[in-house]
Amino acid sequence: MPKIAVLVGSLRRESLNRQYAHAIEKIAAGRLDFRYVDMDLPLYNEDLWVSPPDKVVQLKAAIADADGVLIVTPEYNRSVPAVTKNAIDWASRPYGQNAWKGKPVAVTGASPGRQGTAVSQSQLRSTLVILETVVMGGPEVYMTFTKDLLDAGGAFASPDTAKFIDGFVESFARWVQLTGGRS
Ligand SMILES: Cc1cc2nc3c(=O)[nH]c(=O)nc-3n(C[C@H](O)[C@H](O)[C@H](O)COP(=O)(O)O)c2cc1C
Repeated sequence: MPKIAVLVGSLRRESLNRQYAHAIEKIAAGRLDFRYVDMDLPLYNEDLWVSPPDKVVQLKAAIADADGVLIVTPEYNRSVPAVTKNAIDWASRPYGQNAWKGKPVAVTGASPGRQGTAVSQSQLRSTLVILETVVMGGPEVYMTFTKDLLDAGGAFASPDTAKFIDGFVESFARWVQLTGGRS
């Protein structure tokens, strides 16, 4: 089964995006193997490459080892949150050792607002293109996180939402299969 490194762009315990990622994982069971990456990294500092922090080494290894990467990110002030961008920047360096190169990547995100991270995702896609990922253009999923989105077990409560996310998962599984291994 394809291994998917999952980057959730929020550190807080009750993160809506982490809950959302886990709900996607339930739909993806049997098709994609989700492996969550520790995103609680130091801020990017070029000087640290002399002796890189363990978590940075682990992040780079997780991306290198994965068949694909799923980024589940909030939107902060109509942009990409620092947590998400920081992980992307670490994985792109040192110069010439860009872990993103050739990786199939899908992006989604959840927010309580109606536009459901659309701006954040759009900006993220621009960055992912220049990092030479093979970013899935669609389907786009901008999830509005309402209090009844998930059931008590953390699965999507509505069969329609579950079906919609199933389509996203299926597209990503196919995308990984079609584009994986490029470098
Ligand atoms: C600094 C900050 C800026 C935010 N800006 C936006 C925004 O531009 N668009 C949006 O939809 N939500 C915005 N929000 C609300 C977040 O969507 C909300 O806090 C969400 O729960 C964050 O994701 P998380 O629960 O996974 O941490 C912002 C929140 C913070 C803390």
